[in-house]
Amino acid sequence: MLDQLAAHLRRNPRISVITGAGVSAASGVPTFRGPKGLWRNFRPESLATPEAFHRDPKLVWEWYNWRRQVLSEKKPNRAHEVLAKWSRRFSDFKLITQNVDGLHERAGTQNVIRFHGSIWEVLCLKRCEASPSRWWDETVPYPEIPPKCPYCGGLIRPGVVWFGEGIDQNVMRQSIEALDCDVFFTIGTSSLVYPAAALVHEAKARGAYTVEINVEATPASEQLDLALQGAAEEILDEIDRNL
Ligand code: OAD
Repeated sequence: MLDQLAAHLRRNPRISVITGAGVSAASGVPTFRGPKGLWRNFRPESLATPEAFHRDPKLVWEWYNWRRQVLSEKKPNRAHEVLAKWSRRFSDFKLITQNVDGLHERAGTQNVIRFHGSIWEVLCLKRCEASPSRWWDETVPYPEIPPKCPYCGGLIRPGVVWFGEGIDQNVMRQSIEALDCDVFFTIGTSSLVYPAAALVHEAKARGAYTVEINVEATPASEQLDLALQGAAEEILDEIDRNL
C-alpha cells in the first residue's frame, strides 16, 4: 500500500496536507483529546474562549505562558521533517496546520497555513491604531502576566483561534485554494473540530485522492480513500524512504 502511494507521489502530484496535534506528539507536545490530552485536565470554556479571556485575562495568560514555556523546549520530529522536505521537493505542496506550536515552521516548512493561528503571535486586544494587526513575540516567560501592548499599554491576546471564533478570512481563502490538489493528506487529527475537519471531505469531493495517517480510526477514516493506522513520524518516514 505504501509502495503504491510512494509510486503515485513520484509522479509529482499536487499535494495538500492538514495536520493536527498528533504530528507533534512524538515531540512531547500533549494532544487535546487523548488519555493525557490537554482537554482532560483543563476546560476549554474556561481557557480558550473570548468570554474566558474577558472574565480572567490573567488566568488565560498564565495558561498560555505555561504552554509557550513547554513548547519553547520542544523540537520538530521526523513527521515535521518529512513534511518540510516534501515542501521543498514537490512543486505544488501546501500545508495547513491546526497546530499553534510553530514546529512545522521550525522544521523549515515554508508558507504554513496556520488554520488556528499561532501561540507565538499576539495582538492588541483593542487593536489599537499604533499596533500591527498581529506580531511575532517569542518572549518566554513573560515578565508580567497578563502582558501589555507595547503600543498602547492595554492587554494583548494570543494570536490563536478560540472556541466560538471564526477562521481568519485570508487563511480560509488559502485553505480552500489548497483543496484543488491530487493527493490530500489528513495527519494526526481527530477530525472532530470544524471547519478544519470538513476540508478533507471537500478535497475528496473535488477529486483528490485522500489519505489519513493516525494511530487510531477517526470519524473520517471510512470515508477516505486510504486510512493508514500508525504513528505519523513512522509512516511518513517510511513513505519518504520509498520515494
Ligand atoms: P486531538 O487531540 O483532537 O487529536 C489528536 C489526534 O492525533 C488523535 O486522533 C490521535 O489518535 C492522533 N495521534 C496521536 N499521536 C499520534 C501520532 N504519533 N501519529 C499520528 N496520529 C497521532 O487534536 P486535533 O485534531 O489537532 O483547537 O484537535 C483539533 C483542534 O482542537 C485543535 O487545533 C485545538 C483543539 O481544541 C484550537 O485550539 C482552536
